[in-house]
Amino acid sequence: MIEILAISGSLRASSSNTAICRAAIGLAPDNINISLYERLGELPHFNPELDTDNVPASVKDWRTRLKQSNGVLICTPEYAHGVPGVLKNALDWIVSSGEFVNKPTAVISASPSPDGGNKAHTSLVQTLTVMTAEIVEGATLLIPAVSAKLDRSCEVTDPATAQALRSLLDALALAIDKH
Ligand code: FNR
Repeated sequence: MIEILAISGSLRASSSNTAICRAAIGLAPDNINISLYERLGELPHFNPELDTDNVPASVKDWRTRLKQSNGVLICTPEYAHGVPGVLKNALDWIVSSGEFVNKPTAVISASPSPDGGNKAHTSLVQTLTVMTAEIVEGATLLIPAVSAKLDRSCEVTDPATAQALRSLLDALALAIDKH
């Protein structure tokens, strides 16, 4: 079984990016188990002085869940043309501990705007690249006009988006198999 950790860059209860993570869980083939990391908001603000042998429990949990996963799927909104602070903060906690090193990673951004949050997407890929994550070819996706692709219960109603998510998961699983 391939274990994938899904991370949403939005803390909103009705987040479209979290809905996309949940849709990926529903669309995953039988050999992939995706679990959603729901504790990003519990991480303290990153401070190198707190990054010692005795980090806060929430940081320990975040690092352990990443370590236990074979791959990662991030789906994020764009805030003010960048990566939301909560997600960047979570990534900053991993720079020294290295759980993203060589980790097969899929990157999605979803936005109501026509460009699908491409500035945040580009910036996130840059950050993950410097952290030496493996950004999987065929596992990056921009989802523009996301509100029109989800129904009220946050199910993906757009067949092209559902298909794009299936292909992305296939590409991610293939990269994990090659490890
Ligand atoms: C936004 N939004 C936004 N959208 C975008 O495409 N580019 C941007 O730069 C921004 N900036 C921005 C800043 C702030 C503070 C907020 C609250 C929102 C809109 C954003 O894409 C929209 O609210 C999404 O619905 C957020 O994603 P979730 O929470 O639905 O996953």
